[in-house]
Amino acid sequence: MGELHVIDHPLIQHKLTIIRDKRVGTQQFRQVVNEIATLMAYEVTRNMVTEDVVVETPIAKTTQKSLAGKKVAIIPIIRAGLGMVDGFLELIPAAKVGHIGMYRDQKTLKPVEYFVKMPSDIEQRELFVVDPMLATGGSAIMAIDALKKRGAKKIRFVGLVAAPEGVKAVQKAHPDVDIYVAGLDDHLNKDGYIVPGLGDAGDRLFGTK
Ligand code: PRP
Ligand code: URA
Repeated sequence: MGELHVIDHPLIQHKLTIIRDKRVGTQQFRQVVNEIATLMAYEVTRNMVTEDVVVETPIAKTTQKSLAGKKVAIIPIIRAGLGMVDGFLELIPAAKVGHIGMYRDQKTLKPVEYFVKMPSDIEQRELFVVDPMLATGGSAIMAIDALKKRGAKKIRFVGLVAAPEGVKAVQKAHPDVDIYVAGLDDHLNKDGYIVPGLGDAGDRLFGTK
């Protein structure tokens, strides 16, 4: 079973509270999502593997740590996932970025895939699927399906707010994928929105309706 990690960091919690407020406009919403993404990136990379390397400082030769593990790719689910990409790239500037375009059909709430463009070597990379919202889980499941179909082996999901229903669905469909979120909310309403949530993340990020 994929593990659920709710990142209980004071700065992350504070910033998440800011963007939940319906009075927050597009510019501030985008800025704070970006800041939370950077903090989440810091937390989710804690267990990256390091190796000893020799480095020569101006004073002496020394053995120190350097990243050793797989290279990284960030995979935003378009649109709202795009809001988390720059925050991740702040800390992992060499990461590749693959895009998955998906929207939820408003009647069925089922995701519809419309675009996939991946780095050629995703099977050798550690992938972070990013999307602020994990609601029914349909979009995350379909995105992870698309990655596995293309050979991906090591995938983690990073979001801001999740509903318990979505977490369960992803854990069932993809038991090898760990989930990292800033908030685990109460439930989904009949329209598939997370309660209390923060509304429609894509619309709030891009100023659409
Ligand atoms: C939102 C969100 C997720 C999806 C979550 O995207 O960004 O991708 O809904 O819902 P689910 O867990 O029930 O699938 P949306 O479909 O609204 O598209 P957008 O990002 O283009 O606004
Ligand atoms: N997508 C969103 O943007 N918000 C929700 O609450 C659910 C799905």
